[in-house]
Amino acid sequence: MQIFHHIASLRDALKQERLAGKRIGFVPTMGNLHDAHIELVKKAQQTNDIVVCSIFVNGLQFGLNEDWDKYPRTFQTDCQRLRDANCDYLFHPDDREMYPNGMDTQTRVICPTMTDVLCGASRPGHFEGVTTVVTKLFNIVQPDEAVFGLKDYQQLAVIRRMAEDLCMPVQITAGEIHRETDGLAMSSRNGYITEEERPRVNQLNQSLNWVAEEIKGGRKDFEVLEAEAKQQIEEAGFRVDYFTISDSKTLDPAAVDDTEITVLGAMYTSAARLIDNVSLSLS
Ligand code: PAF
Repeated sequence: MQIFHHIASLRDALKQERLAGKRIGFVPTMGNLHDAHIELVKKAQQTNDIVVCSIFVNGLQFGLNEDWDKYPRTFQTDCQRLRDANCDYLFHPDDREMYPNGMDTQTRVICPTMTDVLCGASRPGHFEGVTTVVTKLFNIVQPDEAVFGLKDYQQLAVIRRMAEDLCMPVQITAGEIHRETDGLAMSSRNGYITEEERPRVNQLNQSLNWVAEEIKGGRKDFEVLEAEAKQQIEEAGFRVDYFTISDSKTLDPAAVDDTEITVLGAMYTSAARLIDNVSLSLS
């Protein structure tokens, strides 16, 4: 695996690959790689000749009181995992390479409406940071396909919308959610869960599945279902950030005749904010 820290040298190398007719797949990450990230790399390998992974802990998408400083940085282990997965290129820029004019004055990419709800409501500016850095990374790598994990469902929906709105020549692909045996979605932030909380944190996933089954069974009283699910999570000892039944594409509250529905939830443990979702197709 070749490692690049600078945009110019990565571009030169990828230009050669493109001239040789290679299709380029891309997996952007913030590092601290776990099995779910490696599955994204494997997915990209299935449909591309070359796979580029990026590791960049993007300060622009963290709020003032969030965990940018203490976000786990595990570069050597990440490199080994990517080598084991036969990833071709790793792009690992520093802040100066990505934001040479500083973050405060960085030109931003804004995807309105969809980013004000759900995670965007409790993390103001977060998605603006994501869409901006992903646009920059797309411009640097110029991939044919980019693979994003389904766990961050809102992120995936926002990036799809951004790529559509801005006519970006890249195929956006979703990688399945990878789960621990009890259903907990794999996440770099799971390391913040305490031993005492660990047996109960899969309540989020259980409630999402319960709501999905109720909807499949014909229930349309979405607001009541949301309230019942919130109560289940609170009874397990966690504070709910949101729990919503949404239209899968727009993320608006689902209408009773919607056929593509995603149930999304976020809850707080003592030191982590966990998100998860379940999609269902009623057609
Ligand atoms: O999902 C992530 O890890 C990040 O939000 C991303 C897409 C790499 C942008 O920084």
